[in-house]
Amino acid sequence: MEVIIQENPNDGCLLGAKIIAKKIRDKPNAVLGLATGRTPEKLYRELARMHREEGLDFSQVTTFNLDEYVGLPPEHDQSYRYFMNEHLFRHINVDLANTHVPAGNLDDLHAECRDYEKRIKAVGGIDIQLLGLGRNGHIGFNEPTGSLRSRTWIKILSEQTLNDNAAVFGDPGSMPKHAVTMGIGTIMEARQIVLLAFGPAKVRAVMEMIEGPLAAVCPGSALQEHPRTTVVLDGNSSAGLQYLDHYRWIESHKLAWQRYD
Ligand code: F6R
Repeated sequence: MEVIIQENPNDGCLLGAKIIAKKIRDKPNAVLGLATGRTPEKLYRELARMHREEGLDFSQVTTFNLDEYVGLPPEHDQSYRYFMNEHLFRHINVDLANTHVPAGNLDDLHAECRDYEKRIKAVGGIDIQLLGLGRNGHIGFNEPTGSLRSRTWIKILSEQTLNDNAAVFGDPGSMPKHAVTMGIGTIMEARQIVLLAFGPAKVRAVMEMIEGPLAAVCPGSALQEHPRTTVVLDGNSSAGLQYLDHYRWIESHKLAWQRYD
């Protein structure tokens, strides 16, 4: 894992956007894996700005989102499809037909899971996957102790996740308790991964993900086995790391081609 510590979440999001933009410039028909949640909002704003002001071109890009709540139609204002349309897709020139979010409101969700895997495979896999990190270490909606080799599946959200997301849900009582999510095995096949985690609430998950043992109790720790993962943190989320000086040392000794800024 490459661990980069930025001053604040804003700088972290700018760096995340730079990494994704670089991928699109190098490979205009890149396949992006995308996340929702509070963490990447500024990153999406920055990608939209790059499109507007710098001509970053999404016309050949394909996207796959990590997850969707079970039972919510795409037009529901708390669905992840709605989130993506609002925060990114309507601000850039991506072809909406090339944007994929798992459907959470179909009768046969198992078929949807299998189909989602096929759709990812059909375009040659994900070039770069953006991730956030749950307070309990989840990635996508893969909650603690789920299989580290899982494929797209239907998961029951943990109590912790329900509590964390209820605040942004409007009516917490109506928040779905299940989600369709890429599995950890699916996520691990992305050729490159960028995970963002900011703020004091993520301290423990960040410690376990980076410096803890590889263990299903912290799904994010699976990324220790991924060949090309960059973790972008801020001062708060990185505060518990034992090897903080080491990460800063590495960062300050990178060669020009190893840097993103
Ligand atoms: C979102 C997702 C989740 C979030 C995580 C962090 O698509 O899959 O894993 O990334 O719950 O959420 P925030 O960013 O709201 O702290």
